Amino acid sequence: MPDSSSPLSPAGDRHFDGLADKFADSLYGALRGELRLALLDRLLPELLDLDDQPLLDVGGGLGQLAGWFAARGHAVTLVEPSGEMLERARRALAGAPVRFVEAPLQALPEQAPGPWPLIACHAVLEWLADPRAALATLADRLAPGGQLSLMVFNRDALRFSNVVKGNLEKALADRLEGQGRRRRLTPISPLTHAQVVAWSAECGLEMRAVAGIRVFHDYLCRPVGDDTERNRLLELEWRYCRAEPHWRLGRYLLYTLVRPETGGSEAPRTETACEEEPRP
Ligand SMILES: C[S@@+](CC[C@H](N)C(=O)[O-])C[C@H]1O[C@@H](n2cnc3c(N)ncnc32)[C@H](O)[C@@H]1O
Repeated sequence: MPDSSSPLSPAGDRHFDGLADKFADSLYGALRGELRLALLDRLLPELLDLDDQPLLDVGGGLGQLAGWFAARGHAVTLVEPSGEMLERARRALAGAPVRFVEAPLQALPEQAPGPWPLIACHAVLEWLADPRAALATLADRLAPGGQLSLMVFNRDALRFSNVVKGNLEKALADRLEGQGRRRRLTPISPLTHAQVVAWSAECGLEMRAVAGIRVFHDYLCRPVGDDTERNRLLELEWRYCRAEPHWRLGRYLLYTLVRPETGGSEAPRTETACEEEPRP
């Protein structure tokens, strides 16, 4: 019997109706959002083969990523189940070559079947009751040779930051995920790198690259001061976002997953193309 007072969808997902203001302020109104966008701006052209191909942005939220691709000549289809988030994206992207579809990821086979040469799904799977099935749905929508830019909230980083903040009991009990109640922004299904490796292999996807987004910022002991310090932090984040061992504790993990050109029956390469050494 669904609980009508619960903010979760019938599928058990946390659509962001009622969360748009809080999400906009606490992420994109703060340094954490600025760093995320600055790192994506540098990383996406390195991690993806981009040639103006159409892009499907799933769970596109407020539209920042859709805007980034649209400004680079991609025709974007933004799919988002929250009417509130979609309305804000529509306003932010007025005039850009973006088609808006109000639907959840689970409706992609009917609403945006593709096949797509390029799909982005950033910071969405951790808000779903069944992220594994969702990854399979995304994989099925990719054309042969198509690329999926997947970003997920990292469960291992969540444990680390809880310990750093002194939430020792919670960390020992491994009670890390949120419940999706009220206006909380702790994801209900944070993921591990091991899960992404296993599930993408199950779907026949090849893991081409991985990077950590915010490998330092979320563990800082004091707020960043002036612009000089912000720039230093960005350079550190950039230098180590693909370097061992730092990328593994990024607050988010950013992947390029590719559907092989031929059938997908060969065993996919599962290990990462991350760099062992920091960039100079
Ligand atoms: C943390 S926000 C990320 C938004 C955007 N992708 C970004 O990176 O800023 C998560 C988004 O996933 C959406 N979402 C939740 N459940 C979904 C579902 N079943 N299908 C697609 N999107 C979903 C939410 O409504 C919200 O807009």
